[in-house]
Amino acid sequence: MELTKEQQQILDGAQGETMAKIMKTLVMYGTTFGAEKMVPVTGKMGHLVTSFGLGVMKPVYALMDKLIAEGAVSKQKFTVDPKPLDKNVPSDFLKNLVFNKFMYSAQDSYDAQLEKLGLASKDGYSCTCYLDEIGNKPEKGDVLSWAESSAVVYANSVLGARCNRNSGIIELFGSIVGYVPYFGLLTDEGRKATWVVEVKTSKLPEAQVLGSAIGMKVMEDVPYIKGLSEMLGTQLNDAVCAYLKDFGAATASNGAVGLYHIDNLTPEAKEQGPALIAENARTYVIDDAELERVKAGYPVMWKDPDAKPKLCFVGCPHLTLAQLKEWTENVAAGLKRTGLKKVKIPTVFTAAPAVIEAFNKLPEAETLKNTGVVLSYICPLMYMNNPLAGKMPVITNSNKLRTYTTGRYYTSSEILDIITGGDRQ
Ligand code: F3S
Repeated sequence: MELTKEQQQILDGAQGETMAKIMKTLVMYGTTFGAEKMVPVTGKMGHLVTSFGLGVMKPVYALMDKLIAEGAVSKQKFTVDPKPLDKNVPSDFLKNLVFNKFMYSAQDSYDAQLEKLGLASKDGYSCTCYLDEIGNKPEKGDVLSWAESSAVVYANSVLGARCNRNSGIIELFGSIVGYVPYFGLLTDEGRKATWVVEVKTSKLPEAQVLGSAIGMKVMEDVPYIKGLSEMLGTQLNDAVCAYLKDFGAATASNGAVGLYHIDNLTPEAKEQGPALIAENARTYVIDDAELERVKAGYPVMWKDPDAKPKLCFVGCPHLTLAQLKEWTENVAAGLKRTGLKKVKIPTVFTAAPAVIEAFNKLPEAETLKNTGVVLSYICPLMYMNNPLAGKMPVITNSNKLRTYTTGRYYTSSEILDIITGGDRQ
């Protein structure tokens, strides 16, 4: 790899042994993917994927201590994925014991390490770091060092920033040294679409099912999507961005998509149009039957497939303020229709701390409280990723949560019916 004079000096130890090792790691990482140079990180903020203090991650804590002791902290402030624990989320004695004493026993000390390394704020824990309330919104063309897959695909596709799907720690190293290897989604060539997806459905598809279908088909490739903006619109307004947030998270988790282009909608597709499509790109046609086929193929991981759900999660990725308001109105209206006072299934809506703060100033906050829904800042995946919660029959409208846990997927309107009793079960 060809390094600049400054990069070579860092590698040779001019800024100390630790910085040299960090640079060496990034150079080796880039070389593996064929990078020929390192480029500066230009985004104002980083975003780390690891927010949870799992007791078993001892080598990570030792590494963090070493970085802090040697002053090798992040050059840029960063946000981080949501925390795993919140006492407001329904739990029982055994789970609390397992969560606090065994699983996430290092949470407090890890939080303190993150602060020393450059955490932007005590509230900077959310996968939707790019929302206005949180403020980590990159500019078009910015080069980033992020890892969280739902945030990376959003930054690349909706905001036009440039970031690879890095792993945890690699993204921190990029933020510390201020350079990332130049390959993949950082390059013009790597941003070309090798799939054309033709959406031919009778109505706007459920974002999470469309994303799932595309993710499972194209895997890590870049799709260019035609036919969607005709139904979704051609402006990136709040509602469209929220749709794309959920759609992108499903493409990134049901497959490994880091960037998608939507004809007439996303910034690069608006500028370059079909010129973004690579030669010999393959075609995938999605109609109503294909979406049905994909949804019907999701395995039910519950021990008893007929069990009554014990918990419902909505908000993976975290909900926007407008989504929170809409869900609140829909749940309240649903309960009014069925004559129930509270939701039938313990339900948790998740959103960023700053979004929750903004929501709590609105009249809808009281309405939501009255429905019995709990509002939390946690990551539902971190809550469920253990044998105790894994055995619970949990329902969700998140295809990411379904993919990584035993959670069962339902569309948003199905979830609404189930929790408000509209399903007449
Ligand atoms: Fe966000 Fe956790 Fe889902 S990080 S995307 S809420 S798995």
